[in-house]
Amino acid sequence: MAKTKSTFVCQSCGTTHPKWVGKCNGCGEWNTVVEEILEREDKPFNYKSGKQSKAATPSLKPLKEVEAGEQSRLLTPDAELNRVLGGGIVPGSLVLVAGEPGIGKSTLFLQLALQLNGRTVVYVSGEESEQQIKLRADRIHTNHDVLVMTETCTQRIFAALNELSPDIVIIDSIQTLYSELIESTPGSVSQIRECTGEWQRYAKENNVPVFLIGHITKDGTIAGPKVLEHMVDTVLQFEGDQHYTYRILRTLKNRFGSTAELGIYEMMQNGLRQVSNPSEILITQREEPLSGISIAATMEGMRTMLIETQALVSPSHYSTPQRTATGFDAKRLNMLLAVLEKRGGFSFGNKDVFVNLAGGLRIEDPALDLAVACALLSSFEDKPLPSNMCFVGEVGLSGEVRAVNRIDQRIAEADKLGFEKIVISTYNSKGLDLSRYQLEVIAVSKLESVYRLLF
Ligand code: TYD
Ligand code: MG
Repeated sequence: MAKTKSTFVCQSCGTTHPKWVGKCNGCGEWNTVVEEILEREDKPFNYKSGKQSKAATPSLKPLKEVEAGEQSRLLTPDAELNRVLGGGIVPGSLVLVAGEPGIGKSTLFLQLALQLNGRTVVYVSGEESEQQIKLRADRIHTNHDVLVMTETCTQRIFAALNELSPDIVIIDSIQTLYSELIESTPGSVSQIRECTGEWQRYAKENNVPVFLIGHITKDGTIAGPKVLEHMVDTVLQFEGDQHYTYRILRTLKNRFGSTAELGIYEMMQNGLRQVSNPSEILITQREEPLSGISIAATMEGMRTMLIETQALVSPSHYSTPQRTATGFDAKRLNMLLAVLEKRGGFSFGNKDVFVNLAGGLRIEDPALDLAVACALLSSFEDKPLPSNMCFVGEVGLSGEVRAVNRIDQRIAEADKLGFEKIVISTYNSKGLDLSRYQLEVIAVSKLESVYRLLF
């Protein structure tokens, strides 16, 4: 193995240390010292020839002479994944897929590998044994096959891949890999950075797309995937509530497409199922209407979905009443309560308030405000809202109902799902062509008028 020289550098003040220390001697910060390669004795590895390449003089070229060339993308059988990647897999792209442990990353990508029949897909696992992968594949039920490798040393993986020239490589996970060029343990910031750099070169030199799976913790800030977001072309996040079956694949960064895309899956007994029409599952069909429930026409990324919002307002037995929001921003809930109290005269001061979005989804769309406010009022009055009605609008501090983006798309979705009435902001209703819809559009400018309409 070629020798490399490395040193340990504080990421905060730049002091170098001969070996790793927990606390920097220079600035006194904890956990900022990271191993860095000073000098690599071997020249960059050439993955095609398996030899060390000589440093070539970089070429200069006027931009006009560069041919853009339509990148031919690889369309997978997974329409949700194609969508979040901006229309299929780009050759030579490096994609990081981050998610909490147990959310279903390995399942999603093993499934993808098994679906890509006729392509050489290599699934490298540093986490599970071949038997465990086999058990998982058996659950997914398929006749197709995939090449698996349980190896964690990058140099050995590259050596094996060179003989094979695969079409797609999946790494599960980047935290388990290590490069021989660096001393630190697998999962450390320096190892993750070095391994990602090596995969980046592999992907670009061989024009092979590489998926790197990475773990993040609950707060999503742990060193690891975060430090390498800038090194990869695309960052996808796989998220969802462990207690629910829905999973969302979100684009956080994409050099080859929009970041407003979203894929939805449901975790079943036999793998992940693509959910192409989310609204149908996010609204519960009830025999009789219940108070505290309203339907919001929201957007997640570029997709409209109608989602059930639930509120419970009940007398509090404690001096400090509880305010709990699941799937909805708690600060926004407090703001809505303050607006209802100040502008509408509803007293929530001695009431516990709970708000919940169906399906364990977490949605940040200001257009949810109106539906949440109506659910709160419905529970407060203990009167159900009409079940054929849905709501869309942002609520301002003075109780005004404000316009939201993409109103046409939202109304069209509500219309498609058979709603008869939709409440929107007056400011949104200008220029709307209502003849296209069967449902009745009710335009309001203040929360007060919504209240009068409903109760
Ligand atoms: P996994 O893919 O191992 O998560 P990650 O790689 O993100 O850590 O997903 C594990 C969970 O998924 C586990 O709780 C079992 C569940 N699961 C199913 O419900 N159905 C299935 O078909 C499979 C394979 C897993
Ligand atoms: Mg896994």
